[in-house]
Amino acid sequence: MNFWNQELSLLKAEGLHRELKRLESSQSPRVIIDNREVIMLASNNYLGLSTEQEIKEAVIRVIQKYGTGSGGSRLTTGNYDLHEQLEKELADFKNTEDALVFNTGYMANLGVLATVVGSEDVIISDKLNHASIIDGCRLSKAKFLVYKHGNLARLENILKRSSKYRRRLIVTDGVFSMDGDLAPLPEIVELAEKYQALVMVDDAHGTGVLGSKGAGTIEHFGLEGKIDIQIGTLSKALAAEGGFVAGSKDLIELLRNKARSFIYSTALAPATIAASLASLRYLQSHPELFKNLWRNVNLLKDGLEDLGYELLPSNSAIIPIMIGDREKTMELSKALLVEGVLASGIRPPTVAEGTSRIRVTVMASHSVTDIEEVLDIFARVGRELKLIR
Ligand SMILES: Cc1ncc(COP(=O)(O)O)c(C=O)c1O
Repeated sequence: MNFWNQELSLLKAEGLHRELKRLESSQSPRVIIDNREVIMLASNNYLGLSTEQEIKEAVIRVIQKYGTGSGGSRLTTGNYDLHEQLEKELADFKNTEDALVFNTGYMANLGVLATVVGSEDVIISDKLNHASIIDGCRLSKAKFLVYKHGNLARLENILKRSSKYRRRLIVTDGVFSMDGDLAPLPEIVELAEKYQALVMVDDAHGTGVLGSKGAGTIEHFGLEGKIDIQIGTLSKALAAEGGFVAGSKDLIELLRNKARSFIYSTALAPATIAASLASLRYLQSHPELFKNLWRNVNLLKDGLEDLGYELLPSNSAIIPIMIGDREKTMELSKALLVEGVLASGIRPPTVAEGTSRIRVTVMASHSVTDIEEVLDIFARVGRELKLIR
């Protein structure tokens, strides 16, 4: 019997089969797919830094000096001066004592959660937290309790009922990756103080997007010094790859010693670290990037709403267009691609049944003309598919 084929047939029958798209260009505002130029509206390269000349040149210089692979895990032979420099600058950027780089944001969440809590503890998690948080919770062996998305009354209820645990850790995305809204962090911090819980914030989509210097959701809310564990990725606004944790010196020292996804994996290549470092420096010296990003976000949101699309109330560079039905969502995504816009259709199991959506992301490097063209295409395709009038 062919087990794999049976499972694949099931996925196809349920309309849940996924296929890869092949890009033949950089993550620019306009990309090439199947020999055709389309406007990219699905990249987390929020500040457009992955094609910035100054950053590319910094990476090339590092390759000339250090070569390609890192050759070992950080604790054996793969720890470069560049890793340490990046960690120092990330800690400064996030206003924490120290930071530690992991190979992906996913691995950062796994490594941190499996280290900081165990079977005597409880993790209290927002329902819409990212999959890597959920997997980290499973790996940690801690009790795992979920509160309804952003619902502070439910969170407090759990806090009231969970005093028997050794440690209580509230974990939340800063910006929710499929909804684009922000966690109510000031209120979460207040509850954590009241019930002596720890707080962990995964700011993968806030870093480089929110706050006046782009440090993220915590800067946006003025909560520096109040969050015990901050997670970030280097793969989105920082235009490279990797993840990181920022926090106290002791937290970072503990992770360096115990986080298995840090210890047992080859270090990120010097060129990758150089890309993050150059991006981090670039974004701090180019505040106009944030201005362009928010201009584009607002232009697109206003335009889509004027056309009659239903948007979820997001506060970030993620704009979810609610469709509901999964087939209609994928049909819209396909039709947009044919007309020249790459915008991802998101369906179960990534989001709940009946809430399938087009997840649009905007970049600082989109021009006003790009956004206007996108709106024309959304108008045409939406009318053809009878999604708008
Ligand atoms: C909230 C959140 N956390 C973590 C990750 C994982 O980060 P990475 O892609 O660097 O593994 C992502 C997205 O990929 C995310 O959206």
